[in-house]
Amino acid sequence: MQNILYVVAMQAEAQPFIDAFGIEEQEGFFAPLPCRLYSTEFENGTKLHVVLNGQQHGSDLVGCEAASVATLAAIERLHPDLVINSGTCGAFESNDAHIAEVYIGNGVMFHDRRVPGDDEWGTQALGNYNVWEGSEAIALELGYRMGKVTTGSSLDMQPCDLQIIKDNGGELKDMEGAAVAFVCSLLNTPILFVKSVTDLCDNGAETFEEFSKNLSAASQALRDANKRIICHLLHLSESNR
Ligand code: ADE
Repeated sequence: MQNILYVVAMQAEAQPFIDAFGIEEQEGFFAPLPCRLYSTEFENGTKLHVVLNGQQHGSDLVGCEAASVATLAAIERLHPDLVINSGTCGAFESNDAHIAEVYIGNGVMFHDRRVPGDDEWGTQALGNYNVWEGSEAIALELGYRMGKVTTGSSLDMQPCDLQIIKDNGGELKDMEGAAVAFVCSLLNTPILFVKSVTDLCDNGAETFEEFSKNLSAASQALRDANKRIICHLLHLSESNR
């Protein structure tokens, strides 16, 4: 593993990790796109990049469109061996999920693309992209639960979203994962998901309030998990030399 690329939507999700590794911003790298690049290099030569979606109208760009643009621009310019989509998500009390718990993704799909028609259209709409084959080993060795990421364009959850999530075994609800995986599938780049829970979609709480209250704790949990994951990946690349 010589070149690792994190794709992260929000600055708040990435900042604790950026600070922990002392990663420097490469200003203007993606101009005129809004995406932001932070890069560093380890002693063994492995490069670590963190790409953020950037901002519009004074707020961080979230959602599939911004994630697709950032992922495409970053893979084309940086040629990573592995993309890691790290971010926060909703999860389910009924699955015994907890706030600030970290999961590794074992699958990824869209939950709000309802396209009638034959199997081909339905299959395309749901996505169901592959995750990196090393994902399970990371979860087992570092002790994280695994779950299927499902992605939609809204923070709230409509009954039809829940139906698709439940019918397809979804456990981690986000707004970018499947878009990042879609671009990775087009460019033959493996993807690992590291997700931390800010809110429980089935506990009756108001989602945005719960998300805002827990964003900092969940982002610190992402920092801790990603430090461990990077150490693990660096050892892997050492042992492959
Ligand atoms: N990110 C964090 N919580 C989320 C939720 N409930 N839905 C979509 N994206 C999220």
